[in-house]
Amino acid sequence: MELKSGDKVDRAVFNAIPIPAFVVDDDAHILDMNAAAALFCGQEVDQAYGLRTGHVLNCVHSADVPDGCGGSPSCTRCVIRNSIKKYFEGQAVTRARMRMNLLPVSDPRAKVLLITANHLPARGERLALLVIEDITANEELEQALRRSEQLAVTGRLITTIAHEFNTPLDSLNNLIYLLKLESGLGESSRQLLEAAEEEVARLSDISRQTLAPHREAKFPVAVRVGNLLDDTVSLFQLKLTSSKIEVRRKYQAEAELTVHPSELRQVFTNLIANAVDAMQSGGVLDLSIEKSPEAEVTIRIGDSGCGIPQEDLNSIFELFFTTKGEKGSGIGLWVTKGIVDKLSGKIKVSSSTSGETGTSFSITLPIRQLAF
Ligand SMILES: Nc1ncnc2c1ncn2[C@@H]1O[C@H](COP(=O)(O)OP(=O)(O)OP(=O)(O)O)[C@@H](O)[C@H]1O
Ligand SMILES: [Mg+2]
Repeated sequence: MELKSGDKVDRAVFNAIPIPAFVVDDDAHILDMNAAAALFCGQEVDQAYGLRTGHVLNCVHSADVPDGCGGSPSCTRCVIRNSIKKYFEGQAVTRARMRMNLLPVSDPRAKVLLITANHLPARGERLALLVIEDITANEELEQALRRSEQLAVTGRLITTIAHEFNTPLDSLNNLIYLLKLESGLGESSRQLLEAAEEEVARLSDISRQTLAPHREAKFPVAVRVGNLLDDTVSLFQLKLTSSKIEVRRKYQAEAELTVHPSELRQVFTNLIANAVDAMQSGGVLDLSIEKSPEAEVTIRIGDSGCGIPQEDLNSIFELFFTTKGEKGSGIGLWVTKGIVDKLSGKIKVSSSTSGETGTSFSITLPIRQLAF
């Protein structure tokens, strides 16, 4: 191994490159690195000299075994090591992507790195120039883009299905109507038909609600929050009764908001649906409305359900975060937060899994909605 002072790489040029670059030998020992690399590793070049890349980058696997970097079974899959190995075996320079878990665990996110092991022209020895680009942010952006594309497709699909539902639903309504006109119908058959009619009406409501955002007027209108909340709860009536959920209301004030009603209805629908899901064996749905002197209205939707574990609280508003497996899509709270943000409001959650208090979401909205 040779000391960094003996290198022929132009130090000024080397340091001016804004991407972490390391001079390494065939066992990933660091012999030099530029200023961007020192910044990335949080170590000066003197401290890093002679150490292997895994140690300097704080790779979790460098702590796996006493031999450190290169000694763990996972190291055979390490893109850094394999890129260096391929380079020394004379293969063409390749750029390879790797997800690397770095210590300390204070930032538990894995980094996504783009690794290139390159030729080092000025050196006679068996040395390589290792370039490590941190592409974590790009990767996250790409993922968010992919998700929002997925969401747009899902949205279009749902709208199309809801639209297509309407024709057979109208036919079903007509058929039930005709059947009810039959004179020889017994009492129990009539009751069954009425139940069927109610279910069809419910399906129509759901379909209408799904299509509502696409039909609604372009301008926001004044709505009474309590009425909108009650209307939304009524759509859940059947489910609330069958799940033995009692609804408790505490509307201390009535407030009028100028909004697109479908948006606020969607917020309430998502929160109530989650509350109902959390109370599989019955409970209490607490609804409250308060006005504050700061011209804000706070709507609380609480449940006495299973609660949200502390470690999930930071993730619940993320797109596609769900703990419901096949039954959930993890879209509800993400959409809810988006709507509340758009209305310049705030959404907060408090929850306990102790089985006594359940979960409570509060939404605070300014009473005067001016900007749309
Ligand atoms: N009231 C609640 N009680 C317990 N857990 C909740 C509650 N509200 C939300 N959660 C948790 O937050 C997660 C995300 O909720 P979100 O509404 O975004 O998605 P989802 O209900 O799983 O699916 P969907 O897209 O159908 O709404 C849920 O899977 C659940 O773990
Ligand atoms: Mg939900």
